[in-house]
Order: sequence, then C-alpha cells, then structure tokens
Amino acid sequence: MQNKSPSDTYAPSDDTFFFADCIANESGDSALEIGTGSGYLAKILQEKFALVVGTDINHSALRSQDYKIQNSVCCRGADAITKEFDLVICNLPYLPSDKIQDITTDGGPEGLVVPLEIISSAVPCVKQGGKLLFLTSSLANYQALIEKTKSLGFSVAILAKKQLFFEELIIVQAKKLFL
Ligand SMILES: C[S@@+](CC[C@H](N)C(=O)[O-])C[C@H]1O[C@@H](n2cnc3c(N)ncnc32)[C@H](O)[C@@H]1O
Repeated sequence: MQNKSPSDTYAPSDDTFFFADCIANESGDSALEIGTGSGYLAKILQEKFALVVGTDINHSALRSQDYKIQNSVCCRGADAITKEFDLVICNLPYLPSDKIQDITTDGGPEGLVVPLEIISSAVPCVKQGGKLLFLTSSLANYQALIEKTKSLGFSVAILAKKQLFFEELIIVQAKKLFL
C-alpha cells in the first residue's frame, strides 16, 4: 500500500491486484465501487455488469483516472448514492493511524474509523441478497470490522487472504440478509 502519483491518486498495487483476482468471476446488473481511485477495479467490473458506479472522496483522483470509468461521483463513502446494487466493493484505506494524513491509506485508530464510516454508508446501497466485498489487513482490527458488519445485517465470511512481507491482506465477503 504505497504507490501514489503526484495527484495523490492511489496507483494500483498488490492489494488492488489481489482484489481484482477476487472479483474476476463476479457478474450481475449493477455494481458500485467505493474509493475507486484510478478506476482499475471499476473498469474490471464494467466488463461484467451493465451499470457500474465509482465513488471517491478525492475529486482530483476522479478527474485524472488512468482507467476512466463511465460513472463517477465525488462523495464520502456512498453518501450521495441512492441506488441499490448487486455488488458493492471497497479496497479500504485501512492503515492504523492517529490522524487521517493520507486519505488513500489512513484508516484512523486501529484502522477502523474510516472503514466503519465507509461500510455504514454502503449498507443502503446493497440489495437484499446482494454482496459487499471489502479489503482490509492483519495490520487493522479486522475482527472488529467483521463484527460490526454482522451487526449491520450481513452474514460475513473471509473470502481470501494473501500473505505479503509485512502484513496479510484480507478480503471479507458480506451478504446482505433478507429481513
Ligand atoms: C487503498 S485506495 C484504493 C484505490 C483503488 N480502488 C485501488 O484498489 O487501487 C483507497 C481509496 O479510497 C478513497 N477514500 C478514502 N477515504 C474515503 C472515503 N471516506 N470515502 C470515499 N473514498 C475514500 C481514496 O481517495 C482512495 O482512492
């Protein structure tokens, strides 16, 4: 989690490519990526979903995407999105940090504050029976993130893990329960 261009866009990295492998077989009518950055993952989703929307808090990242996507919205999490999607994904900014100095990577204390804000904002955007996939890490308190996601009405499981030199990347799959 380190590569960045001068415009503070997060350049696709190990975590992005790991996530890309995990969404390769996903398909459906509609998908949302929160924190789309360069657009790399949303561009992959565009091949398999009729409608793809990407959000990011960083307007300049959306304006200068290397992988230009069809529909982008500048907002916090999914705060400006009113539609429900089959699939919502987010490669979270998960690094534990006292403050948010780098919005591309810093998650706040325990790597939880920004991820919890993003996941909470995603809840109304996932169709009943739909899926939320997010990437976190062994560096963050990912167990707390999983428990919180369960409490928001999802059945949750770890979909995949990838060991890197200094951390383990974790992709969590949350299926929205029919209530
Ligand atoms: C780890 S980068 C992932 C970028 C890209 N999706 C990828 O996988 O390469 C996290 C992205 O989330 C964005 N971001 C950070 N906080 C956010 C928030 N509260 N709401 C929306 N986007 C946010 C950052 O600007 C950055 O583009």
